[in-house]
Amino acid sequence: QHRALVIVAAGSGQRLGHGIPKALVELGGRPLLAHALDSLGPLRAPGLGIDLVVLVLPGLPPARERLAALGAEHARRAGIPVIVRDGGPSRPASVARGVDAVAEQARHHGWDERSLTVLVHDAARPLTPADVAERVARQVEAGSVAVVPAVPVTDTIKRVDPAGRLGHHSEQAEQVRDTLPRAELRAVQTPQGFTLEFLLRAFAHLGELKAEEAEALTDEAMVAEALGVDVAVVSGDARALKITTPADLLAAEALLAERGS
Ligand code: C5P
Repeated sequence: QHRALVIVAAGSGQRLGHGIPKALVELGGRPLLAHALDSLGPLRAPGLGIDLVVLVLPGLPPARERLAALGAEHARRAGIPVIVRDGGPSRPASVARGVDAVAEQARHHGWDERSLTVLVHDAARPLTPADVAERVARQVEAGSVAVVPAVPVTDTIKRVDPAGRLGHHSEQAEQVRDTLPRAELRAVQTPQGFTLEFLLRAFAHLGELKAEEAEALTDEAMVAEALGVDVAVVSGDARALKITTPADLLAAEALLAERGS
């Protein structure tokens, strides 16, 4: 059994509004990518046992250099190979490039595609505890080819029709179509886990889709669903929250302060 960790960190961070790639935005004085690497704990430790890390970074300097240097420093400290790849125009494209790098290494080392677990993680989830990654990897190794960590949702989620015909209009009212049963809903986090064999199949399928169909896939588990493959859900953690907006960054600062105290 081998385990690889792919961290996608090539997003622009537009919604965060800092004017720099999101992975470089600081939380408690350190870039999000540094936290994403550290929060998983010692990557080589027996519980997690990562053999290889691939960082998928923004292609443009100076962000690329700064983030690559951060990865190299982590590699030195953790005693683990860290490979850097440039990101693509969308998250799936970035993940595909990371997975290609894992496949190259697997061939190089003679690792079997079926017994290689690939954890695909977002740099945008900087405080994810190691045990989330461990649960995901263990479930892959128990026989699931696709695994996601998730938490129950606390909001009531409604599907809306933005072009619905309300009899009376205020500015931008949308019309409710239906309400999804909350007990059945889960908010999905990362790292998501797959066998390398499955990911290679998933990306071959993605290549056959139209651009807009591919763009609608916000994670690799959706490709598994499209292919009729069972996706397993294990417990996520509130601390694995995703940083998208300035409010998320404030919440993460609070979590970090709590951890440090
Ligand atoms: O944009 P969003 O927050 O959904 O991105 C989720 C993750 O995917 C982030 O860690 C981001 O860096 C990464 N990403 C990427 N390449 C892109 C878009 C997003 O690596 N082109």
